[in-house]
Amino acid sequence: MKILLDKNAGFCFGVKNAVAQTLKTIKSSNGQKVFTYGPLIHNQQVIENLRKMGVIEIESISDNIDSNSIIIIRSHGVPKSILEKMISKGINVVNCTCPFVSRIHKIVEEKYNDHYKILIAGDENHPEVIGINGWCNNEAIVIDDEKKVDKLSYYDKICLVAQTTFSKNLWHRIKERVKDKFKDVEVFDTICNATENRQKSVTELAQSVDAMIVIGGFNSSNTKKLYEIAKQFCNDTYHIETAKDLAKEKLIKAHTVGITAGASTPDWIIKEVLIKMQDFNNENIMEEYEKSFRSL
Ligand code: F3S
Repeated sequence: MKILLDKNAGFCFGVKNAVAQTLKTIKSSNGQKVFTYGPLIHNQQVIENLRKMGVIEIESISDNIDSNSIIIIRSHGVPKSILEKMISKGINVVNCTCPFVSRIHKIVEEKYNDHYKILIAGDENHPEVIGINGWCNNEAIVIDDEKKVDKLSYYDKICLVAQTTFSKNLWHRIKERVKDKFKDVEVFDTICNATENRQKSVTELAQSVDAMIVIGGFNSSNTKKLYEIAKQFCNDTYHIETAKDLAKEKLIKAHTVGITAGASTPDWIIKEVLIKMQDFNNENIMEEYEKSFRSL
């Protein structure tokens, strides 16, 4: 069995930065309580490890979080009102909002102030989208399907942005429909390159293998999208969270197996999957990949 690891598998730049900054903050916290606003990343195993290190996850800024606390904002970002609340309480904020997400905040804030109706192509329940909406007074319309564009009221000025992890194909369909329906449309293609590159390479990889394994949290939207894309080209595609979910009987007939991983999947989980595949395989594949693994 030949195993091909996608060159874009795993942590993206924004997630790598958030995890690294969190570890640095824990080390230098000197007894201060460290909170994350929401789970730092969509990966249960990483979250468990952070809990063991004393990091507390919160969903709101309650009164018992005082100015001696540290709050980490994850790469998804937060609504403007939440950031302002943290600052007004004098809390030490470690803002790990990915710069690609901050750019969207800036765009929607400016355009909202310039009386544009903001449309976000994305998942309305995703924290990144909730955060973006919070920079235009929570007045944006979130669309996840081009058919929904037809049902929109007419607006004179439209500003269209995308959730950074949105599907490229769906984005193109929504964008064209919006441009057809409205006269004055400003389009900002805010899908991040990390997502685009990962989606492109999984498309190529899935076409060249007999089976595909997509590693990542079952609640991770970018992992689910990778799975959907891979499944289009490779019927034997499996979404797993860790090596424990790997089923030998499903893979044993495959001559080539492709492996990719979502943006919040740490290297050690990918490595465990490769080690287990190596056990199925009785061949040393780790040598080839060992050098590409980062320590986290
Ligand atoms: Fe940032 Fe792109 Fe990752 S927006 S958090 S580098 S997927």
